[in-house]
Amino acid sequence: MSADPHFSWLLVATVAAAVGFVTLVDVLLVLNLRRHAEDRGEDFEVPRGLRIMSLLLPLGAAAALVFTGARDLVQATVPPLHSLEVSASRGEEGWDFRYSPEVAADSLHLPVHRPVRLTLESPEGPLTLKIPALRLERTARAGAKVSAWFEAQVADTFALWGEAGHRAPEEGLRSAMVVHSGPSFDRWFASKSDLLEMYPPVEAGRHLVERHGCLVCHSLDGSPRTGPSFWGVLGRHRVFSDGTTAVADSSYVRHSVLQPQSQIVQGFPGVMPSFEGKLRDADIAAIIDFFETLRENGEEQ
Ligand code: HEC
Repeated sequence: MSADPHFSWLLVATVAAAVGFVTLVDVLLVLNLRRHAEDRGEDFEVPRGLRIMSLLLPLGAAAALVFTGARDLVQATVPPLHSLEVSASRGEEGWDFRYSPEVAADSLHLPVHRPVRLTLESPEGPLTLKIPALRLERTARAGAKVSAWFEAQVADTFALWGEAGHRAPEEGLRSAMVVHSGPSFDRWFASKSDLLEMYPPVEAGRHLVERHGCLVCHSLDGSPRTGPSFWGVLGRHRVFSDGTTAVADSSYVRHSVLQPQSQIVQGFPGVMPSFEGKLRDADIAAIIDFFETLRENGEEQ
């Protein structure tokens, strides 16, 4: 489990030396007392105090060690509540470090000074992850998960690699751990989770309406819900509750998303929340591109 076997050996040697030393002192003390007793011509008996002491002292020391050890073990195994959760597994080409269902990378990006809980999974065959800079090594058996938590202390790039089965770094699993300063991690994360970076506009628009919960109130198939369906929305002739009318074009959609309360479509309740500050202009443009496909001559049903 430990990243370096030397540490385990050092631990065993230290414990053995401590036990040996205490036993030696005990034996020498008893021998010395016996010699003195014999010198004085008395019968020797190990003094009661010494017997109790030689029992209690090691027991007390062992209990203290177990207590502090257990406390450290709990601290080392239970991650703090606000930890960043990252799962690691083997992707098609190297590592798949996943931050959410949508956000993943083939190298491990982390913010500095923030606890991270890393969970390693391997559906097929054992998989080992090694990050020497953190003295971290974990092996997930086939079909199992293991996790570790840690906090990176220095913003820099470090080596990271994996071994699958045999104990040799696998070329495809050689990667890096990039520890960012706080704002730079947020920028990296935002760029990774930006749907416009991940998909072409129409696809991004579809994901945006899913992610922002629009489909709770709007259908894609023409059936009205709390709000009108998105099917065929562009070009529709609109009558509002104040009697004014308009033809739904891209600027109408933009307006509906940012100031839904300013024009309420007749026959619907004015319950749509504003997405001002939540959707950028480019996001709304992608949603409009998606709406373009939602009509008779569009590509989608
Ligand atoms: C809580 C329910 C609700 C949510 C969530 C919601 N809307 Fe609406 N939306 C409505 C209702 C109700 C109307 C009709 C009344 C109005 O005009 O405000 C409407 C109207 C619209 C219209 C005008 C439709 C037309 O046929 O004239 C558009 C465009 C629109 N919403 C887009 C969106 C988008 C995009 C999202 C997500 C980013 C969204 N809505 C989220 C309830 C909702």
